[in-house]
Amino acid sequence: MTTDCWRLDSFAQTLVLAGSGGRLPCVVYWGAPLPKACDLGAIAAAEARDVTGGMLDANPALSICPEAERGFPGQPGLALRDAEGRVLRPRLRLLEVEAQESALTVKAGDDEIGLRYVARFAIDAETHVLTLSAEIESDAPVMLDWLAAPVLPAPQLSDEMIDVSGRWIGEFRLQRTPWSAGIRLREARTGRSGHEHFPGLIVPGRGATNTAGAAYGFHYGWSGGHRMVAEELPDGRRQVQFGHASGTELAPVTRAATAPLLVTFSRAGLNGCATAFQRHIRDRIVQWPAPERPRPVHYNCWEAVYFDHDVAELKEIATRASALGAERFVLDDGWFGRRDDDTTSLGDWWIDERKYPEGLAPLIEHVHDLGMSFGIWFEPEMINAESETFRAHPDWALGPMDQIEGRQQRVLDLASEAVRDYLFDRIGAVLRDHAVDYVKWDHNRLLPYPDAAQTRGVYDLLDRLRAAHPKVEIESCASGGGRIDAGILARTQRVWLSDSNDAVERLRIQHEAALFLPAAITGSHVGPRRCHTSGRVLSMPMRAWVAAQRHMGFEMDPRELSEDEAQTLTRVTAWWKANRDWMMRAEIHRLDSVDASVIAEAQIAEAGARFVVFAGRAGTSPQILPRPLPLTGLEPDALYRLELVNGQDIGPASRGDVALARGAVELPGAYLMSQGIQLPAAFPETIWVIEGRRI
Ligand code: GLA
Repeated sequence: MTTDCWRLDSFAQTLVLAGSGGRLPCVVYWGAPLPKACDLGAIAAAEARDVTGGMLDANPALSICPEAERGFPGQPGLALRDAEGRVLRPRLRLLEVEAQESALTVKAGDDEIGLRYVARFAIDAETHVLTLSAEIESDAPVMLDWLAAPVLPAPQLSDEMIDVSGRWIGEFRLQRTPWSAGIRLREARTGRSGHEHFPGLIVPGRGATNTAGAAYGFHYGWSGGHRMVAEELPDGRRQVQFGHASGTELAPVTRAATAPLLVTFSRAGLNGCATAFQRHIRDRIVQWPAPERPRPVHYNCWEAVYFDHDVAELKEIATRASALGAERFVLDDGWFGRRDDDTTSLGDWWIDERKYPEGLAPLIEHVHDLGMSFGIWFEPEMINAESETFRAHPDWALGPMDQIEGRQQRVLDLASEAVRDYLFDRIGAVLRDHAVDYVKWDHNRLLPYPDAAQTRGVYDLLDRLRAAHPKVEIESCASGGGRIDAGILARTQRVWLSDSNDAVERLRIQHEAALFLPAAITGSHVGPRRCHTSGRVLSMPMRAWVAAQRHMGFEMDPRELSEDEAQTLTRVTAWWKANRDWMMRAEIHRLDSVDASVIAEAQIAEAGARFVVFAGRAGTSPQILPRPLPLTGLEPDALYRLELVNGQDIGPASRGDVALARGAVELPGAYLMSQGIQLPAAFPETIWVIEGRRI
């Protein structure tokens, strides 16, 4: 039997598909680049596994869509029923493979049940990310229980997998689970990607660290909740499947598609996955209205005034924020309906004349006079029962009348065109009547039940609004980081990573999120002196520098700042502005800190000529002095000049003779990456910021 093979390559990975006998092909290799002239048939043949007692007489294929009907012993890639509920059992025959240099399209079908299946693979040679998706088309309507994006084998030389959980004000918690017989299943059934279930996975090779070893990365670009199956079969083979949360197509369909699954292989540790995803999200997924415009420093008034809007006060706050360096003023929740607290008015998207007797124009003009642009908050998908809109359209809300509410609110049925038209008109009116360049788009409760049509409705509404207002940027917020994924990021330009403005928490959340997200889209604000979500009091240097790691902003009441705090914030903001052009395009490399209390990263400029290290001391260390911090991503033979930018910010703990504390040091890359830098002793809850340049 002849075997057909196809390959896709980027500078650091090769993926090989092989198929024979008119069956769906399998990924027979995915890993480090294979030689150009490699005999792919030999690679496919080498993958064949033996058979022994207690097994079928041949191993059923772990194809790109494993089929139950072919004796596959694990989870199938497709599960369907006919419209009457009878299980369908597809046996797909390969129809054709269209091969281009950087893309493959696999077409297959089952004539008996009138089903076509298409899988697409595309590789981006620059970002180094593969995009995989699958779709089905059926002659008769079918109930779709499960459709996986093209299925990939997971490596044998791996002991564990890393996926992501989290919670409100505690997003991006990495979970390490050993591979073992059976399934690790992650399923987000709350109707959004969720704090609890960021749709990503890293499978590290044995012994991989942030900076060394093999790693495989996955990110499913869908905001309606995903399902991940990481399974070790009885014969030891491993598969990874990603798709929409199962059973979220609630009605029979004749066509269905997965979202794009982004995957990448790294031989430079977890950072190889992280930097590929960062590039791909920033340069391919996010659509920037004005790519050349520097990311503006934000001011967001939420934690300063909450629902208590007073134009004179907001003007004063804007004046002060501008003096500190803010460039965009974002008016948060509280400006519409009769929204004096969170029990009312969602859905009533008209300006509250009690708070804004002359409309928003006076505030916006004031903000513009200060040289700032203006942004505004919406929570379009939600409605309070206590609102005029709900009273007029109780049928617009999703789910039963007696459902449990969340934050006293319900979800609008975005699958309804009438609802989408209403929101398009109301939001459109605000954007048309005012010079608004930014929308913070919130989503503060879970759905009453997961429904893919809801997510498609949100995407449609966002797409219509973006087409009508192409200059407006949008931030995805869902009680902080409850809706972060490549699907929403194809329609937004920033994520509100967390409602926690506690810089110590943020340091960790940002660090973990960098496995998937670039700095340019990751919002980070300087919060109040006493953090509103943790009660912790943190110094201004700590708060300011942690915000300066990402897309910087402020969210405290600037009237609370002491002279000293204001000076520090102005200094750090000026530093951020002077560096943002290259930093917002830099790669974030997570450093392998050997000190458990130190969370550190290096942001390395595109051409590698400069970098900045942020090393945050999240707590006290077991030993008395900081351990040396090894860097990464440098040229071993090049010489680098390093300078501590913020010596004055790290407290009086240091009294010795540390080179960095005395002035600039010049050291070769090889030394910095193996030996590491000696840091001056510092108080807990402080951060070292070190700039480096290749000389
Ligand atoms: C959510 C967001 C906050 C803020 C409030 C407003 O909690 O995450 O940033 O916008 O809603 O109600």
